[in-house]
Amino acid sequence: MKKIIAIDGHAASGKSTQAKRIAKVLDYTYIDSGSMYRALTYYFIKNNMLVDPINIKLIIENLKNVVFDFKTTGNSQVILLNGEDVEPYIRNMDVSEHVSKIAAIPEIRTFLIKIQREVSENLNIVMDGRDIGTVVFPHANKKFFLKASDSIRARRRYEELKKVDKDIKFSKVLENIISRDFEDTSRSTSPLKPANDAIIIDTSKYNETQVFNKLISIIKG
Ligand code: CDP
Repeated sequence: MKKIIAIDGHAASGKSTQAKRIAKVLDYTYIDSGSMYRALTYYFIKNNMLVDPINIKLIIENLKNVVFDFKTTGNSQVILLNGEDVEPYIRNMDVSEHVSKIAAIPEIRTFLIKIQREVSENLNIVMDGRDIGTVVFPHANKKFFLKASDSIRARRRYEELKKVDKDIKFSKVLENIISRDFEDTSRSTSPLKPANDAIIIDTSKYNETQVFNKLISIIKG
Protein backbone atom coordinates (compact mmCIF):
# COMPACT_ATOMS: atom_id res chain seq x y z
CA MET A 1 0.00 0.00 0.00
CA LYS A 2 1.41 3.38 -0.94
CA LYS A 3 1.93 5.86 1.86
CA ILE A 4 0.79 9.47 2.00
CA ILE A 5 2.05 12.18 4.34
CA ALA A 6 0.05 15.42 4.23
CA ILE A 7 1.58 18.68 5.45
CA ASP A 8 -0.78 21.63 5.53
CA GLY A 9 -0.42 25.00 7.15
CA HIS A 10 -0.29 28.76 6.89
CA ALA A 11 1.73 30.73 4.37
CA ALA A 12 5.51 30.39 4.82
CA SER A 13 5.15 28.09 7.82
CA GLY A 14 8.02 25.89 6.60
CA LYS A 15 5.86 23.20 5.01
CA SER A 16 7.86 22.71 1.85
CA THR A 17 11.25 22.73 3.58
CA GLN A 18 10.07 20.00 5.93
CA ALA A 19 8.22 18.05 3.23
CA LYS A 20 11.35 17.96 1.05
CA ARG A 21 13.55 16.73 3.91
CA ILE A 22 11.06 14.06 4.92
CA ALA A 23 10.69 12.84 1.32
CA LYS A 24 14.47 12.60 1.06
CA VAL A 25 15.08 10.56 4.20
CA LEU A 26 12.14 8.23 3.61
CA ASP A 27 12.80 8.04 -0.13
CA TYR A 28 9.26 9.23 -0.89
CA THR A 29 8.30 11.70 -3.62
CA TYR A 30 7.73 15.33 -2.67
CA ILE A 31 4.84 17.09 -4.40
CA ASP A 32 4.26 20.81 -3.89
CA SER A 33 0.55 21.49 -4.47
CA GLY A 34 1.06 25.24 -3.97
CA SER A 35 3.34 25.32 -7.03
CA MET A 36 0.34 24.25 -9.14
CA TYR A 37 -1.81 27.16 -7.91
CA ARG A 38 1.16 29.47 -8.42
CA ALA A 39 1.87 28.13 -11.93
CA LEU A 40 -1.74 28.73 -13.02
CA THR A 41 -1.61 32.25 -11.56
CA TYR A 42 1.62 32.93 -13.45
CA TYR A 43 -0.01 31.66 -16.67
CA PHE A 44 -3.03 33.96 -16.26
CA ILE A 45 -0.83 36.98 -15.46
CA LYS A 46 1.47 36.30 -18.39
CA ASN A 47 -1.46 36.02 -20.78
CA ASN A 48 -3.10 39.23 -19.48
CA MET A 49 -6.11 37.35 -18.18
CA LEU A 50 -5.86 38.58 -14.62
CA VAL A 51 -7.84 41.77 -14.71
CA ASP A 52 -9.41 43.77 -11.88
CA PRO A 53 -12.13 42.82 -11.02
CA ILE A 54 -11.24 39.22 -11.75
CA ASN A 55 -13.09 37.68 -14.73
CA ILE A 56 -13.82 34.20 -13.42
CA LYS A 57 -15.53 33.08 -16.63
CA LEU A 58 -12.44 33.95 -18.70
CA ILE A 59 -10.18 32.11 -16.23
CA ILE A 60 -12.29 28.96 -16.26
CA GLU A 61 -12.62 28.98 -20.06
CA ASN A 62 -8.86 29.12 -20.42
CA LEU A 63 -8.15 26.18 -18.15
CA LYS A 64 -8.52 23.93 -21.19
CA ASN A 65 -5.38 25.53 -22.66
CA VAL A 66 -3.24 24.47 -19.73
CA VAL A 67 -1.43 21.15 -19.64
CA PHE A 68 0.63 20.14 -16.63
CA ASP A 69 3.40 17.58 -16.77
CA PHE A 70 5.89 16.63 -14.10
CA LYS A 71 9.56 15.79 -14.22
CA THR A 72 11.29 13.93 -11.44
CA THR A 73 14.25 15.79 -9.96
CA GLY A 74 15.85 13.95 -7.04
CA ASN A 75 12.95 13.19 -4.70
CA SER A 76 10.70 15.93 -6.08
CA GLN A 77 8.16 16.22 -8.86
CA VAL A 78 8.79 19.51 -10.63
CA ILE A 79 5.92 21.05 -12.53
CA LEU A 80 5.96 21.84 -16.27
CA LEU A 81 3.23 24.13 -17.61
CA ASN A 82 2.62 23.57 -21.32
CA GLY A 83 6.10 22.06 -21.43
CA GLU A 84 7.81 24.98 -19.65
CA ASP A 85 9.64 24.72 -16.31
CA VAL A 86 7.95 27.67 -14.59
CA GLU A 87 9.65 27.27 -11.20
CA PRO A 88 11.83 30.42 -11.65
CA TYR A 89 8.75 32.63 -12.19
CA ILE A 90 6.19 31.50 -9.62
CA ARG A 91 7.62 32.60 -6.26
CA ASN A 92 7.70 36.36 -6.88
CA MET A 93 5.43 38.90 -5.16
CA ASP A 94 3.30 39.44 -8.24
CA VAL A 95 2.21 35.79 -8.24
CA SER A 96 1.94 35.75 -4.42
CA GLU A 97 -0.38 38.76 -4.50
CA HIS A 98 -2.87 37.09 -6.89
CA VAL A 99 -2.65 33.38 -6.15
CA SER A 100 -5.25 33.23 -3.36
CA LYS A 101 -7.91 34.73 -5.64
CA ILE A 102 -7.23 32.04 -8.24
CA ALA A 103 -7.16 29.33 -5.54
CA ALA A 104 -10.60 30.36 -4.28
CA ILE A 105 -12.29 29.48 -7.60
CA PRO A 106 -14.00 26.08 -7.15
CA GLU A 107 -13.35 24.99 -10.80
CA ILE A 108 -9.65 25.70 -10.36
CA ARG A 109 -9.58 23.52 -7.25
CA THR A 110 -11.42 20.65 -8.97
CA PHE A 111 -8.98 20.87 -11.90
CA LEU A 112 -5.88 20.80 -9.68
CA ILE A 113 -7.08 18.22 -7.15
CA LYS A 114 -7.58 15.74 -10.00
CA ILE A 115 -3.99 16.35 -11.14
CA GLN A 116 -2.69 16.10 -7.56
CA ARG A 117 -4.29 12.69 -7.17
CA GLU A 118 -3.13 11.48 -10.60
CA VAL A 119 0.49 12.50 -10.13
CA SER A 120 0.54 10.67 -6.78
CA GLU A 121 -0.72 7.37 -8.13
CA ASN A 122 1.45 4.41 -7.14
CA LEU A 123 3.93 6.63 -5.29
CA ASN A 124 4.76 7.07 -1.64
CA ILE A 125 4.39 10.80 -1.30
CA VAL A 126 4.79 13.81 0.92
CA MET A 127 2.46 16.57 -0.33
CA ASP A 128 2.18 20.03 1.18
CA GLY A 129 -0.55 22.62 0.78
CA ARG A 130 -3.71 23.90 2.42
CA ASP A 131 -6.30 21.14 1.91
CA ILE A 132 -4.23 17.98 1.53
CA GLY A 133 -5.32 16.35 4.79
CA THR A 134 -8.90 17.66 4.56
CA VAL A 135 -9.85 17.24 0.88
CA VAL A 136 -7.16 15.88 -1.44
CA PHE A 137 -6.13 12.90 0.71
CA PRO A 138 -8.50 12.61 3.69
CA HIS A 139 -7.13 9.09 4.28
CA ALA A 140 -3.46 10.12 4.41
CA ASN A 141 -1.33 7.99 6.74
CA LYS A 142 -0.04 11.02 8.62
CA LYS A 143 -1.31 14.58 8.68
CA PHE A 144 0.53 17.59 9.99
CA PHE A 145 -0.53 21.21 10.26
CA LEU A 146 2.29 23.73 10.70
CA LYS A 147 1.90 27.19 12.09
CA ALA A 148 4.11 30.00 13.43
CA SER A 149 3.67 33.64 14.36
CA ASP A 150 3.13 36.12 11.51
CA SER A 151 6.39 37.95 12.11
CA ILE A 152 8.48 34.77 12.25
CA ARG A 153 6.96 33.44 9.04
CA ALA A 154 7.43 36.78 7.30
CA ARG A 155 11.06 36.97 8.46
CA ARG A 156 11.83 33.49 7.13
CA ARG A 157 10.15 34.19 3.78
CA TYR A 158 11.82 37.61 3.50
CA GLU A 159 15.28 36.07 3.99
CA GLU A 160 14.53 33.54 1.25
CA LEU A 161 13.18 36.08 -1.24
CA LYS A 162 15.99 38.55 -0.56
CA LYS A 163 18.44 36.12 -2.14
CA VAL A 164 16.78 36.63 -5.53
CA ASP A 165 15.29 40.13 -5.13
CA LYS A 166 17.44 42.60 -3.19
CA ASP A 167 14.71 45.28 -3.30
CA ILE A 168 12.12 43.19 -1.54
CA LYS A 169 10.50 44.89 1.47
CA PHE A 170 9.85 43.03 4.73
CA SER A 171 6.56 44.94 5.19
CA LYS A 172 5.30 43.72 1.79
CA VAL A 173 6.12 40.11 2.65
CA LEU A 174 4.38 40.37 6.02
CA GLU A 175 1.33 42.01 4.46
CA ASN A 176 1.15 39.31 1.80
CA ILE A 177 1.27 36.33 4.15
CA ILE A 178 -1.38 37.89 6.40
CA SER A 179 -3.70 38.61 3.48
CA ARG A 180 -3.17 35.16 1.91
CA ASP A 181 -3.93 33.47 5.24
CA PHE A 182 -7.10 35.51 5.51
CA GLU A 183 -8.23 34.68 1.96
CA ASP A 184 -7.23 31.01 2.26
CA THR A 185 -9.04 30.46 5.57
CA SER A 186 -12.17 32.39 4.64
CA ARG A 187 -12.91 30.96 1.18
CA SER A 188 -15.90 28.66 1.00
CA THR A 189 -14.33 25.83 -1.05
CA SER A 190 -11.64 23.81 0.77
CA PRO A 191 -10.65 26.50 3.24
CA LEU A 192 -7.31 26.29 4.99
CA LYS A 193 -7.87 24.47 8.28
CA PRO A 194 -6.36 21.52 10.11
CA ALA A 195 -7.97 18.13 9.49
CA ASN A 196 -9.62 16.73 12.63
CA ASP A 197 -6.87 14.11 12.87
CA ALA A 198 -3.94 16.41 12.00
CA ILE A 199 -1.08 16.92 14.41
CA ILE A 200 -0.68 20.66 14.88
CA ILE A 201 2.84 21.95 15.38
CA ASP A 202 3.73 25.55 16.20
CA THR A 203 7.23 26.02 14.77
CA SER A 204 7.78 29.54 16.17
CA LYS A 205 10.19 28.39 18.89
CA TYR A 206 12.03 25.71 16.92
CA ASN A 207 14.63 25.76 14.20
CA GLU A 208 14.31 23.78 10.98
CA THR A 209 16.12 20.69 12.27
CA GLN A 210 14.18 20.61 15.54
CA VAL A 211 10.90 20.66 13.61
CA PHE A 212 12.20 17.99 11.25
CA ASN A 213 13.22 15.73 14.16
CA LYS A 214 9.79 16.14 15.71
CA LEU A 215 8.00 15.26 12.47
CA ILE A 216 10.19 12.30 11.65
CA SER A 217 9.89 10.83 15.15
CA ILE A 218 6.10 11.05 14.91
CA ILE A 219 6.15 9.44 11.44
CA LYS A 220 8.44 6.62 12.55
CA GLY A 221 6.89 6.28 15.99
O1 CDP B 1 4.75 28.50 0.42
P1 CDP B 1 3.64 29.46 0.60
O2 CDP B 1 3.06 29.38 1.94
O3 CDP B 1 3.98 30.85 0.19
O4 CDP B 1 2.41 29.08 -0.33
P2 CDP B 1 2.21 27.92 -1.38
O5 CDP B 1 2.14 26.61 -0.69
O6 CDP B 1 3.15 28.09 -2.50
O7 CDP B 1 0.72 28.26 -1.86
C1 CDP B 1 0.42 29.47 -2.52
C2 CDP B 1 -1.08 29.70 -2.47
O8 CDP B 1 -1.73 28.65 -3.20
C3 CDP B 1 -1.73 29.68 -1.10
O9 CDP B 1 -1.68 30.93 -0.44
C4 CDP B 1 -3.15 29.26 -1.44
O10 CDP B 1 -3.92 30.36 -1.88
C5 CDP B 1 -2.96 28.32 -2.61
N1 CDP B 1 -2.98 26.90 -2.24
C6 CDP B 1 -4.21 26.32 -2.00
O11 CDP B 1 -5.24 26.98 -2.01
N2 CDP B 1 -4.29 24.98 -1.75
C7 CDP B 1 -3.18 24.22 -1.72
N3 CDP B 1 -3.30 22.91 -1.49
C8 CDP B 1 -1.92 24.81 -1.92
C9 CDP B 1 -1.84 26.16 -2.16
